[in-house]
Amino acid sequence: MARFSTAETWRTQSTGTRVLRLMLGATWLYGGLQKASDSQFFNKASTGYIGAQITGFAKNSPLSFILKHMISHAALAGWMILLGEIAIGLAVLSGVALQAAIIAGAGVSTILWLSVTWHVHPYFLGSDTAYLVMWIALFFLVRKEAGTKARKSPIPNLADRREVVRIIGVGTTAVIAALAAGQFKKSIPVPTAGNKIVDLAKFPVGSTMQFTAPDGNPAFLFRTKVGVFAYSAICTHQGCTLGYNPTANSLDCPCHGSTFDVANGGAVLGGPAPAPLPTYKVAISGNSIVTV
Ligand code: FES
Repeated sequence: MARFSTAETWRTQSTGTRVLRLMLGATWLYGGLQKASDSQFFNKASTGYIGAQITGFAKNSPLSFILKHMISHAALAGWMILLGEIAIGLAVLSGVALQAAIIAGAGVSTILWLSVTWHVHPYFLGSDTAYLVMWIALFFLVRKEAGTKARKSPIPNLADRREVVRIIGVGTTAVIAALAAGQFKKSIPVPTAGNKIVDLAKFPVGSTMQFTAPDGNPAFLFRTKVGVFAYSAICTHQGCTLGYNPTANSLDCPCHGSTFDVANGGAVLGGPAPAPLPTYKVAISGNSIVTV
């Protein structure tokens, strides 16, 4: 297989190929680093725990027989996922074993589609099908533009010592990047009943923050003109962790697209969630916001 330097691979490719490569490489790299720096990802007490996520996905996925086996090895699966994502991102951006990395990326997107976004309806609300199509398009573009020799096989030439060194370099960089990202884990405050969540002065009207509720689950705290209130951050559909959408003032589920109305008691705005979000009792006490 012909070997190209990183700069050469970018220079010799069309604009369309570069756009796809940049988007997919950067997204996979970010996805892996985000997991490595997520304090909930390996925390068994959290609903963001990889084991809890796999348990939720296993309920209705066509891959449930595989996912159920992964639950007891969730930490190992978590490391493989985040290191795999970082390595694929680095390989795609650097052009090392590019075709193999693209095939691996397409494989990951297929697995995510069959597990995480399988029940998203309509299908275009789930991102994994779109990523899978992007990977397939990138694969054929790269093969077309790489020249006859390089096109022969997507498998890296392991008889080429320099290629092996570059692949080891990508793997090593992935491990170092994951460990470095882990240093940025933010610890989320865990108040007990009657205990402070945050200083009032640091949380003015209009503020939002995530905290860990006294039962150990993630929750969102809000302060508006009418006071303070808090919702569970666990989706009532299948337990995925919600994110706050400031544009719509809603809590949105990344798994199957449910949305909850922050201004209206956590009511379901859309998606398959069967019930509004549970609330937590919070109050202003002196100079603090506390759990009640
Ligand atoms: S877990 Fe399915 S919509 Fe949230």
